[in-house]
Amino acid sequence: MAVALAAQLREGTKKSHTMAENTGFVSCFLKGVVDKLSYRKLVADLYFVYEAMEEEMHRLKDHPVLAPIAFEQLDRRQALEEDLTFYFGADWRNQVETSPAAKEYVARIREIAQSSPELLVGHHYTRYLGDLSGGQILKTIAQKAMNNPTDDGLHFYVFPQIEDEKAFKTTYRSAMDELPIDQPMADRIVEEANHAFHLNMKMFQELEGNLVAAIGKVLFGFLTRRQRTGSTEEPVAA
Ligand code: HEM
Repeated sequence: MAVALAAQLREGTKKSHTMAENTGFVSCFLKGVVDKLSYRKLVADLYFVYEAMEEEMHRLKDHPVLAPIAFEQLDRRQALEEDLTFYFGADWRNQVETSPAAKEYVARIREIAQSSPELLVGHHYTRYLGDLSGGQILKTIAQKAMNNPTDDGLHFYVFPQIEDEKAFKTTYRSAMDELPIDQPMADRIVEEANHAFHLNMKMFQELEGNLVAAIGKVLFGFLTRRQRTGSTEEPVAA
């Protein structure tokens, strides 16, 4: 028996969505305060998360609850690899490591993929529908903030195999509504999606620390320069 999962997920994660939007890192990002070092750490975190999710989704592609939403057009791993090559160079694999928050996120994906694969729907929804919803805006913000007019380092936001993102989201929501699940399973998927939001927030909070440190460094440099020169110039906001 199918249930209206799409609407339940949207309603059931509204609060988490608002909380995620309001984390320091995300709201700084929205204001165009993007430090390249923090940003490339985010790209590395996302790489590990999508690598785990896509490996598990491909492995479970015939699972009756996962097969209807296992759209390969959504895959982000290759795009993230290209972005990592841009930020870290060709030997990026030797340079990036999983942050504690990304490690916890990956561990959760691997765990449920073994114990209760249906719950992967909550993770899939949280990331891909979010990516399809905010992608273009976030790409433009990142491009401006990092002074990068090209797509280099920003392939994550581009879905070359999806022509119309809005139409695709409608297809995705219809597929979710047809999943062969009952209401107790729908409840568990919504709960897991909220957990996925929480894991994303943890990743952002970790990066927030890096961002604050980067801003602090710039400010410290400015103040020490000012002390040396005796200038009374005001610091310029980022
Ligand atoms: C940068 C801050 C963010 C902004 C401005 C933003 C904006 C939006 C907007 C406008 C929509 C509605 C699109 C539509 O109705 O078709 C949306 C949907 C969505 N966003 Fe975000 N978002 C943000 C951050 C996030 C984050 C951090 C996540 C999760 C990691 C996320 C996950 C989602 C999901 C899953 C949806 C689909 C909701 C649904 O229709 O069921 N968003 N977002």
